[in-house]
Amino acid sequence: MKIKDPKTFFIRTYGCQMNELESEVMVGQLKRRGLKRVLDEELADLLVFNTCSIRDLAERKVMGKLGQLGRSKMRNKLIGVTGCMAMAKKETLFKKLPHVDFVIGTNNLSELNNVLDDVVASGKQQIRTEGEYDALDYTIAEREHKIKGYVSIIRGCDKYCTYCVVPYTRGQEVSRPHEEIEREVRDLVQKGYKEVTLLGQNVNSYGKDRPETGVLFHDLLYRLDKIEGLERVRFLTSHPIDISVQLMEAVRDLRTVCEFVHFPLQAGSNRILKKMHRIYTKEQYIEKVALLRSIAPNAKLGTDIIVGFCSETDAEFEETYQLFDEIGFSVAFIFAYSPRKGTPAMRWQDDVPEEVKQQRLHRLLELYEKKAQEERLELVNTPMEVLVEGKNKNGQLKGTTRCWKNVILEGDDSLIGTLQMVDISGFNHSTLIGTVKKPLIV
Ligand code: 5AD
Ligand code: SF4
Repeated sequence: MKIKDPKTFFIRTYGCQMNELESEVMVGQLKRRGLKRVLDEELADLLVFNTCSIRDLAERKVMGKLGQLGRSKMRNKLIGVTGCMAMAKKETLFKKLPHVDFVIGTNNLSELNNVLDDVVASGKQQIRTEGEYDALDYTIAEREHKIKGYVSIIRGCDKYCTYCVVPYTRGQEVSRPHEEIEREVRDLVQKGYKEVTLLGQNVNSYGKDRPETGVLFHDLLYRLDKIEGLERVRFLTSHPIDISVQLMEAVRDLRTVCEFVHFPLQAGSNRILKKMHRIYTKEQYIEKVALLRSIAPNAKLGTDIIVGFCSETDAEFEETYQLFDEIGFSVAFIFAYSPRKGTPAMRWQDDVPEEVKQQRLHRLLELYEKKAQEERLELVNTPMEVLVEGKNKNGQLKGTTRCWKNVILEGDDSLIGTLQMVDISGFNHSTLIGTVKKPLIV
């Protein structure tokens, strides 16, 4: 017998920052309904899994977890699957996992409480995956952090890279009205937030679907920069083709905008870029990076790389390796290609053997580690601005630099939520170690 009237819930989030934010909204929705959040799934009446489909491993993790629940007495709890895998698998989830009670896609999340009502009233499985754009109420989000927060500015993606499932799991690009974004950021600042990260699959497309507003991504940054008390703005993620000169100037000129641009390369060979439908060549990419560096020399770069895409040869991988070496990324996420159902690349054979993908992945990771070590050595003895965000497990203060490096430092709790100039004295793995120079703001 399934529980009829849930009093407590447990939520687990897989995948990207957008999912983290959407889980924060769901926590807010469920708390409004009067449910209490518990961190131990055994103690919960309702279990929500907010899922990711970007690579097979992400899906396998969730399917493994849900399968295991079905074989335990936990199957009698109410169980919901939300997010990208709900969109990718839809009704088929019920066939494989008959103990799942509801499935809600990325554009129907505002219906969570109605769906719960329907499940409880009817005792039948419920599915909502047909929404096109869901005006989610972000103001009710129960946020994980108190100093920095995510703010969604555009949802979906119209780029249709051939390997990527996102345009199908999150739909077309829809920008949020700028007034609503500004209001949300102002609210956060009033609550004591110092930093926001603007989220979207392609933030640089912001506003292009609402030409009548005349507010494009860089315009939004200029508007947010005026908000008193807001110290830092970050943004994720970008498509190189849409990174404009005006955005580069905003990175150079605006007080709040952090000097970090995510610039996903994906591959360094023109044939593979074309097959991926990335709509830029290696030469255009290099040119754009050079332009950014000439306009905003302090900007650090991040990237995403996929190795072993369909038919990628050793020589083509070498081009990616060379380019990665030449450009020098401060942050990189490197993945082995994983075929996704429903994407154009499914038409082609996934013909790079798994061992070869893994070898390429490891070579690139080694190069990344070598470059990251060089970068860290350069940062030692450099004064850097750190936003102190809280404490780590060892009770030390932790924070981040404007260029997105983690720092630990000594000091008391009163520094939490402040900006400090910090001397970097060394590092432990990828975390920098710093000492406070002089207070900027207390
Ligand atoms: N296989 C491997 N990596 C992928 N990504 C997107 N789709 C796939 C896939 N099918 C990577 C891209 C993207 C990042 C979020 O995930 O590098 O930028
Ligand atoms: Fe996927 Fe390409 Fe859109 Fe990024 S730009 S979400 S990789 S389709």
